[in-house]
Amino acid sequence: MELKSTKELHSELMMHSVRFAKDEQGRRKGQDVLFKWPEIEKKLGEHKHIYVVDARLGSNNHTHRLWYDVIPPHTEEGQDWRTLGHRHTVEAIIYFLKGHGHSIIDGERYDWGPGDLLSVPMFSWHRHINDGDEPVLRIASTTGPLSLALGQAVYEDERYPEFWIYAQEGEDARKTLIPGGGGKIDNGKIAGSRTAEMYAEQVAFAMHEEQLRRKSKVLVKQKDLVFEPTAMGNLAYVVDPRIGCHSKALGVVMAEIPPGKRSGAHRHLYDEIDLIVSGKGKVIVEDKEFNFDTLDVLSIPVFQWHQYFNTGSEPLRILGINTRLAMDNLGLSLTHQGEQADYV
Ligand SMILES: [Fe+2]
Ligand SMILES: [Fe+2]
Repeated sequence: MELKSTKELHSELMMHSVRFAKDEQGRRKGQDVLFKWPEIEKKLGEHKHIYVVDARLGSNNHTHRLWYDVIPPHTEEGQDWRTLGHRHTVEAIIYFLKGHGHSIIDGERYDWGPGDLLSVPMFSWHRHINDGDEPVLRIASTTGPLSLALGQAVYEDERYPEFWIYAQEGEDARKTLIPGGGGKIDNGKIAGSRTAEMYAEQVAFAMHEEQLRRKSKVLVKQKDLVFEPTAMGNLAYVVDPRIGCHSKALGVVMAEIPPGKRSGAHRHLYDEIDLIVSGKGKVIVEDKEFNFDTLDVLSIPVFQWHQYFNTGSEPLRILGINTRLAMDNLGLSLTHQGEQADYV
């Protein structure tokens, strides 16, 4: 094998960075946008858990993913979960489409039905149980890809204790929402040192975050959504720090478009995955058009203009799951508004 010279190798590495954004634009243009429900449903017949938008399956989404799954009547996710369930260092939301049941999240019970959404606090133990005679149909979206890229993806499952990283350290480690537990130091001994105070804040940060996460809103009932007019059309924020959720990465909105009307057009630097909750329509993404129906999924490429049209006779409802908050925290937020909705 011919070895590259140091100069060649390091020049190539530098050009990789320079070229990346242009290459990425090409990948965005070529990515799959529309995922049709009939095809997903076929696969769900064979396996009850189907990844839909997922970088491991060729999607260009870097920060979150979406899957569909079914919980058969009177069973629970993970079938053999009985005590803790599982927990992970990724943010997750679950939106229920059919069926009724409850979840145990850090020991608290939450009852849900169609149209309800759970925002699972990071690293909290959780179990989801179907209480009814019908299968539960739901989608879930997590920031798994982001945590994996950061090297901080921990999934602890009661069925696989051999893969636990922290939980085996004992009862305390199993109760905390902080991977590895939090801490506190006594900074009183270094009187007058602002630097000591700043460092003590750093050590205490995780404990403070844990308290905020424990107070976070977990269950959003469909009936509590508040729709108001915006430049994009009628919108309700579902998961957002400004309405009591302690999310740092994943945000959710619900959009509603009346028959014959269209949303505003916009583009943004965050990843967005849409679930068509009811109705039918089309979306224009840059220079392409896609027709969609209820239960279809859209993956909107980063920074491409998109606008939605209700082409049916019922209200069109779209659940938009995005990683805007993660991008906010990286200083990479940018949203451009184009044409405004024609009905507000
Ligand atoms: Fe989970
Ligand atoms: Fe968008």
